[in-house]
Amino acid sequence: MSCFDSVDESAHYGASVCLLLDRYRSLLRWEEAGVVELGTGDAAAIAEVVAGLPGLRVHGYDISAAAVERARANIAARGVADRYTVEHGDFFDQADAAGGPAVTTAIANPPYIPAPDGDILMPELWGGVHGNDLLLRLLKAGYDHVVAAVASYADPAATLATATDLGYRVVNFLAMGLDYGRYSGEPKVRDHIRRICAAGRGWTGDDEYVVAVALFSRDPDVPGDRSAQLLGALQLG
Ligand SMILES: C[S@@+](CC[C@H](N)C(=O)[O-])C[C@H]1O[C@@H](n2cnc3c(N)ncnc32)[C@H](O)[C@@H]1O
Repeated sequence: MSCFDSVDESAHYGASVCLLLDRYRSLLRWEEAGVVELGTGDAAAIAEVVAGLPGLRVHGYDISAAAVERARANIAARGVADRYTVEHGDFFDQADAAGGPAVTTAIANPPYIPAPDGDILMPELWGGVHGNDLLLRLLKAGYDHVVAAVASYADPAATLATATDLGYRVVNFLAMGLDYGRYSGEPKVRDHIRRICAAGRGWTGDDEYVVAVALFSRDPDVPGDRSAQLLGALQLG
C-alpha cells in the first residue's frame, strides 16, 4: 500500500487552491454546499487550507487505503476533522451520491502520470496513455467550477480544448516549475513522456516540467478567459 508523496507539488496545489478559493469566494459561493475533492492523498496541504479559510468544508475521496489512513490522521492533527472528511473509494462512484445540496465546486490534484499502462510505481497515479484521463473525467462530471492541476506533459492542449467544448473557461491559474520526482522519473514513465511530448502531446524539459493549478468555470457570472495564457505558461522544452 502506498501514498502519494511529493512535497513541492502538494504545497503548490494547496497554496493555489487557497488563493483561488479565497480570491473568487463571492463568485463561487463554496460556503453554501462545500467542496468535493478527487484524490486527497495525505490531505496535509488541503488541511492547512481548511484551517485558514473558515467556512470551507471539503469532502474528499481517495482510492488508496494508505492515503485515507494518513489523511484522517493529518486532518485530526490539524484540528479540522469537523470540516474536512475523507472517504475510501472512487470519487466518480460516490461524489454524485453524496446527498444534500448540490456541490458546485470540485478540487483535485488528479493522477496525471502518462504511461502505456497502469503498471507503474504507484498505479493509482496513472492518468492514462496521455495522462489527462482523470482530469477529463472530472471536467465531464458536471461541476460548475473545477480547481485542478494541469501538467505540461499530460496533453494540456487537448484538455483545454475539451474544457472549452464543455463550456468551461480558465478563469485564472498559478503555474510552477517542478523537477521530475520519483513517479515521473521512473524510466518507463520518463521514456513515455519523451515520446508523447515529441508527438506534440505536451511539453517537458530534460528533468523538469510545469504544473498549473487552474480554476475552470462554466458559470457566466464568473468572468475571465485565460486559456491561451495557461497554454503559454505550460510550454517548455
Ligand atoms: C497526485 S495525487 C494527489 C494527492 C494530494 N491531493 C496532494 O496533492 O498531495 C492523486 C491522488 O488521487 C488518488 N486517486 C486516483 N484515482 C482516484 C479516484 N478515481 N478516486 C479517488 N481518488 C483517486 C490517488 O490515490 C492519489 O492519492
